[in-house]
Amino acid sequence: MSTVDILVLDFGSQFTQLIARRLREFGIYAEIVPYFETLQEIRAKAPKGIILSGGPASVYEKDAYKPDAEIFNLGLPILGICYGMQYIMDYFGGKVQKASAHEYGKANLDLVNECQLFQDCTNGEIVWMSHGDRVEVLGKEFEVIAKSSNSPYAAVQNEKKKIYAVQFHPEVAHSKEGGKYLFNFAHKICGAKAEWNMKNFAQNEIHKLTQKIQGGKVLCGVSGGVDSSVVATLLYRAIKERLVPVFVDHGLLRAGERESVERMFSENLSVPLVVVDASEIFLNRLAGVCDPEKKRKIIGETFIEVFEQEAKKHNTNGEIKYLAQGTLYPDVIESVSVKGPSKTIKSHHNVGGLPEWMKFELIEPLRELFKDEVRALGKELGMPEEMLMRHPFPGPGLAIRIMGEVNKSDLELLRKADMIFLDELHKSGYYDKVWQAFCVLLNVRSVGVMGDNRTYDNTICVRAVEAIDGMSATFAHLPHSLLENISNRIINEVEGINRVVYDITSKPPGTIEWE
Ligand code: XMP
Repeated sequence: MSTVDILVLDFGSQFTQLIARRLREFGIYAEIVPYFETLQEIRAKAPKGIILSGGPASVYEKDAYKPDAEIFNLGLPILGICYGMQYIMDYFGGKVQKASAHEYGKANLDLVNECQLFQDCTNGEIVWMSHGDRVEVLGKEFEVIAKSSNSPYAAVQNEKKKIYAVQFHPEVAHSKEGGKYLFNFAHKICGAKAEWNMKNFAQNEIHKLTQKIQGGKVLCGVSGGVDSSVVATLLYRAIKERLVPVFVDHGLLRAGERESVERMFSENLSVPLVVVDASEIFLNRLAGVCDPEKKRKIIGETFIEVFEQEAKKHNTNGEIKYLAQGTLYPDVIESVSVKGPSKTIKSHHNVGGLPEWMKFELIEPLRELFKDEVRALGKELGMPEEMLMRHPFPGPGLAIRIMGEVNKSDLELLRKADMIFLDELHKSGYYDKVWQAFCVLLNVRSVGVMGDNRTYDNTICVRAVEAIDGMSATFAHLPHSLLENISNRIINEVEGINRVVYDITSKPPGTIEWE
């Protein structure tokens, strides 16, 4: 059973979650709490060390975020990062000021003193700086352990007190050996053992879910995507038949989607998947609607209505007590410290559309994980690779990939083209190389010639993007020969399509989906 090795106090940096993530990569279990966590709560978690994260504020401002200063008397090693460093320096009598120029970007770290933090690390390695304030006078009893051309105090320590501070961000990927610095802190300085792994995490989560869900059932919306499938699998391991997985088929799915979800469930979980075929309702309501936002709204509202009706059927005696969701860490955009406990902020967003009676207690077992970690967890739970490596698929489905009105025949056309595109991507090995790929039906007709005949048919746009998290993306540079195959096959095999175009727009300025 993993306990907390390192407690990260969050001061609102956009990188805070990366600290926990880097440590996990080294087998160290870290938990993030708001900077105002009480001493009692900190003690109860019994960490071996504390990290103070970065943050957007200035420590010399009147209302600057400050933790309970008693953390310095817990006898635990402490590492401050960026704002965390500035807070430490300020607390120990140093001086922090606005820098004459904002230091942003790469810098080389000169290691100037023997220290455990940088043990076995390379001198001159690149680190990532991002700060507007800087330390002008060191705190009492601190010494410099590293500097960069712009930061004379890039890293400092008070070895006796085991307090360390760095001006740069070791947690971001640009800091080449940043993970090693964090590991040195956790392992060499705090004495944390590198015992965290996905297997432990899975066991621990299953145990926690079993403890938490003592009675009642858990409703879990399943979309066929990776996240909700992993949540359902995890819950199934914990509470077996008390899980009620509901899959709503809105008629806007890709070819074979529903069947593959059903197969996955019947092969991996012996709990019946509740499949609701609501395609007629969705398509009827979408008839004649062309505006993208209206389409999205109709789909969102209808989904909730259908989900609610289904939930009612399973809750005749009030047996449903929880609602499970596949919220991931990147979904929790609101910083824990800046906006108050983000747990509730995000959850409310997610269930905002649900009626009052359905606001069951939320279960979000993936909220500490990143997408690739969720995939690793799924693998640990024995889920099939095919399921785990799937591209993201939007809630409104194919409706936002058909320009204008959605109807059955256009859906069929799009499904056929999309199937060919994905098939070619799988065969060429490009499916796993791109982040997302799909076809869009443009509803633009153009003139063509096939054999001796004139055609006047529809256009398919092929879209493939590379991305890390979907927030930004670049169009994938697919080989021309592959694009040629795709175009030939779509035009030859899908009657009604006579032209294929490739979308060469990145995000920004475009979005990934067309609507
Ligand atoms: P955009 O089009 O905003 O898409 O660049 C970014 C990512 O989000 C997916 N997406 C959605 N996912 N519900 C979802 O679950 C939605 O309404 C939705 N809209 C876009 C999109 O497929 C891409 O991966």
